[in-house]
Amino acid sequence: MTLTLRRPDDWHLHLRDGATLAAVVGHTAERFARAIVMPNLKPPVTTTELAAAYRQRIVAALPAGARFTPLMTLYLTDNTSGAEIARARACGFVHAVKYYPAGATTHSDAGVTAIDKVHGALAALEEHDLPLLVHGEVTDPAVDVFDREAAFIDRVLADVVRRFPKLRIVFEHVTTREAVAFVRSAGPRVAATITPQHLLLNRNALFDGGVRPHHYCLPVLKREAHREALVAAATGGEAQFFLGTDSAPHARHSKESACGCAGVYSAHAGIELYAEAFDRAGRLEQLEGFASHHGADFYRLPRNDASITLSRSSWTVPANYPFGADALVPFRAGETVAWRLQPSGGR
Ligand code: NCD
Ligand code: ZN
Repeated sequence: MTLTLRRPDDWHLHLRDGATLAAVVGHTAERFARAIVMPNLKPPVTTTELAAAYRQRIVAALPAGARFTPLMTLYLTDNTSGAEIARARACGFVHAVKYYPAGATTHSDAGVTAIDKVHGALAALEEHDLPLLVHGEVTDPAVDVFDREAAFIDRVLADVVRRFPKLRIVFEHVTTREAVAFVRSAGPRVAATITPQHLLLNRNALFDGGVRPHHYCLPVLKREAHREALVAAATGGEAQFFLGTDSAPHARHSKESACGCAGVYSAHAGIELYAEAFDRAGRLEQLEGFASHHGADFYRLPRNDASITLSRSSWTVPANYPFGADALVPFRAGETVAWRLQPSGGR
């Protein structure tokens, strides 16, 4: 059985930099026409100028013949000015600004320390109609780690949505039924991305036979009832939900550690894993909207012209990929993925 789709885009991706960028970008470019590239480098991509330079490094790292467009983002800090947002809007290659609560996740220490510090910047985003991308978790250590997304809605996001009625917002990598319900209730200017791991796994996968660091990402995997709510949202044909892998490569030694980094690497099977999830739900016919239409429409970019073809034929994922001087352990390492990308895809 095969499935042909309009070529998809990845609306939430970590590409890193230098040798590690070169190690991973080909996987994404093979499958996706475009990707929203996260700005959480060290130091973070806080200005249009830094985004321009990063964009050039990404393009230079692409394999020969690749047809892939990086869509850049800026990293919001307490000090991001309205003038910087105006520059970002005017440049044409910055498509959004990312809000990380300080300390919430990998390389987020330069993030926003309190939401009222960025009210001016959010007003500028609203005025210039540049979307705000949100890592939606509170950092309050008193809140249980599994409840941090739901608490973020109540403490931060609901107020932002009320206060800035025209601001377009993507609630990134939603993991709970509370987030799904919130996005639906907020109407079409609020959208959400959903990762493959949150569609395919529940939190038992963190402890399957022992601690499983390669299943650890942020927001952390949740209970089965939440996974089911995500599958319903992704496969229901609703325009507010679209594909964002959150593929987040980390060197093997920093994952397999006494204090391992958060992030699941999925770019090597970035569309195939979603095909598996939609197939399991009996909703393959909804994959194209989720992967190739809803995100482009939300970002007001044209849908892609080319197509890709997937076949239901399983393949074994390598145990690891080269990653600079280290190795990268991908999602499903040494195990199978049920769908395969046909080689000519996207070219
Ligand atoms: C991301 C990373 O490694 O950059 N990690 C993750 O677990 N998702 C950061 C992020 O998106 O939260
Ligand atoms: Zn991410």
